[in-house]
Amino acid sequence: MNIRKGILSCSLIAFSFLVNAQDNNKMNQFIDGLLSKMTIEEKIGQLNLVTGGEATTGSVVSTDVEGKIKAGNIGGIFSMSSPAKIRKAQELAVKESRLGIPIIFGMDVIHGYKTAFPIPLGLAATWDMPLIRQTARISAVEATADGINWTFSPMVDISRDPRWGRISEGSGEDTYLTSRIAKEMVLGYQGDDVSKNNTLLACVKHFALYGAGEAGRDYHSTDMSLHRMYNEYLPPYKAALEAGAMSVMTSFNDINGLPATANRWLLTDLLRNEWGFKGLVVTDYTAVNELIDHGLGDLQQVSALSLQAGVDMDMVGEGFLTTLKKSLEEKRVTEVDINRAVRYVLEAKYRLGLFEDPYRYCDEQRAKKEISKKEHLVFAREAAAKSFVLLKNDQILPLKKTGTVAVIGPLANTGANMPGTWSVSADHANTQSLVEGMREALGSKIKITTHLGSNLTDDKALQERATMFGRTIPRDERDPELIIAEALKTAESADVIVAALGESSEMSGESSSRTDLNIPASQRRLLEALLNTGKPVVLVLFTGRPLTLTWEHEHVPAILNVWFGGTEAGKAIADVLFGDINPSGKLPATFPQNVGQIPLYYSHKNTGRPLAEGAWFQKFRSNYLDVSNEPLYPFGYGLSYSTFEYGDIILDKKAIKRNETLKVSIDLKNTGNYDGEEVVQLYIRDMVGSITRPVKELKNFQKVFLKKGESKRIDFTISEEDLKFYDLQLKHIAEPGAFKVFIGGNSRDVKEADFELTD
Ligand code: BGC
Repeated sequence: MNIRKGILSCSLIAFSFLVNAQDNNKMNQFIDGLLSKMTIEEKIGQLNLVTGGEATTGSVVSTDVEGKIKAGNIGGIFSMSSPAKIRKAQELAVKESRLGIPIIFGMDVIHGYKTAFPIPLGLAATWDMPLIRQTARISAVEATADGINWTFSPMVDISRDPRWGRISEGSGEDTYLTSRIAKEMVLGYQGDDVSKNNTLLACVKHFALYGAGEAGRDYHSTDMSLHRMYNEYLPPYKAALEAGAMSVMTSFNDINGLPATANRWLLTDLLRNEWGFKGLVVTDYTAVNELIDHGLGDLQQVSALSLQAGVDMDMVGEGFLTTLKKSLEEKRVTEVDINRAVRYVLEAKYRLGLFEDPYRYCDEQRAKKEISKKEHLVFAREAAAKSFVLLKNDQILPLKKTGTVAVIGPLANTGANMPGTWSVSADHANTQSLVEGMREALGSKIKITTHLGSNLTDDKALQERATMFGRTIPRDERDPELIIAEALKTAESADVIVAALGESSEMSGESSSRTDLNIPASQRRLLEALLNTGKPVVLVLFTGRPLTLTWEHEHVPAILNVWFGGTEAGKAIADVLFGDINPSGKLPATFPQNVGQIPLYYSHKNTGRPLAEGAWFQKFRSNYLDVSNEPLYPFGYGLSYSTFEYGDIILDKKAIKRNETLKVSIDLKNTGNYDGEEVVQLYIRDMVGSITRPVKELKNFQKVFLKKGESKRIDFTISEEDLKFYDLQLKHIAEPGAFKVFIGGNSRDVKEADFELTD
């Protein structure tokens, strides 16, 4: 399927899991038969998803899980792993509940399982679609080997607000890039047959608009025009569904006055009726219960509301379990509503093959062989290296493999922070730290010295909040100047200093919003002191979000943004710092100059008073008095140890008709001294429309490898589909007229050419 067509089309989704009509008939017959035998309690039980209590992803501990399984009161369990434990729970369901309906086992397999890959924002920075698909594939292999068959991923929420901690869990600010990634993740998890014992059911989340909450505060409300939703925020969810994702998770947030979990327009009119989705809809963690605090009524009322809105399964809160029967008796819901939900739950289990073999995912031999196996770790190292974004390099990198390197900073010696947020199954206690990884990667070629240098933050309580779930970073309560002085002593004999600074992994992720996006003051002071030594300093920046790095950009000669790179991040950082791998990551989200510019994203509207090109400030134009409109680092930006030169854009014609395609080409040359990869990005602007259109929109890209000195012609094709948008009536159309096409290595530094669409 052409993904771009897929994203933009408004036809019903052709679900790949429904293509075989014969199989569907068989499934329907089976489920009809089962439904006819189920009591109302057993039906409601299927809608109940509880936690197995292993991974901390919320504050609820489900009780009497064993008793409820036997009574047929549980449809699914999440956060439980290991084939032995899962087999035991499954046996209770299959052998001791009246109808023996198997349980579905979920887990937040977000960016890897035991083998952790970079956080999703980092994976997005690879712009490498086969690589991203492979990370999902490996995640599925490992998770299913450990008994799991359902993952709460991909997270495809667009976010243009780096204050929001969960920007780390998505693919950044862009509709097109996120949509492409959504598709790859789904295909990686589900493979070509979700009933195989090494594929996982994917769950697209959080539906919808969770990343657009007010002020970057988690769980906050969203109020958005429909044409913005359709053009900018909804396409990634739809792309994931078009790729075949079989489940959807509702989001916590309010959307235009109605929380997603109670929003019938969203879950039924749009998702089911307009998009034709036929899979399972699960709520987010206690999202039904939270409707009470949203102000929609008591538990009985909100449970009925969300069932009627289109929710099938209730995660953790047990609102369905405890109130739906009463609501049925009081005629506040119908059995038709309940049957619909039960059917979707049973269908998911059927498709996973659980009725055929409930123990399909309980093979202890597979667990031993396939989890954290060597190839997975090798791949994780490559994925990590490819996710790093070189933000600045004044001819310092790559480093030479001789002499002494001082690795200083609170992120230098913490293995537990390397996997990043939402790596609930990773082995944090046994993950290598940066220093350990560097020592292993470099062997005896280099002497590495190290020191804490500073606390993560001056504020002890803030550091505690930012290092939950065992992601501790040692704290030194002595005078910060003393700690810095010691670090400088350690650095004295070094030829180069690597400053390992930034965020701890739990400074981003759920419920980790920030209003200050600077590197914490304690670390900034350390950095300043390190720079004052006059030695070359490389800032290795750990972060789960765009930070404000204006000061660092001005003062530090080299900055490598390493996000949180996963299990093998330490070695991968060494690979890039010392030139074994040439960095090729590009930012999937804009880095602003300061927090006041947020939301700052490249695909903004022009306004009626745009600044003249190149101007910094003009009175009565759209700008700020105190800072330019420019980002510090634009979307799509990232340097390489090599340099790439772009020729002018070559068009094969100046105008196209609706049924024609335009060939757009550019000559790309590697003009530096290293072989390397470049992400060639193609943007389009619709110059005149019936509604205002963004100044640029990413519409395609290619990741190209060029040997040093090599040139290559890169070709793209533009068709009418690429020019379409949703107009005010939400019609998906391309309007004839003038367009611009831009090509470049980031969203700012581009070549441009004009063309027309004619009728
Ligand atoms: C998160 C989801 C996650 C769920 C289950 C929630 O708090 O918002 O993304 O899948 O917990 O752990």
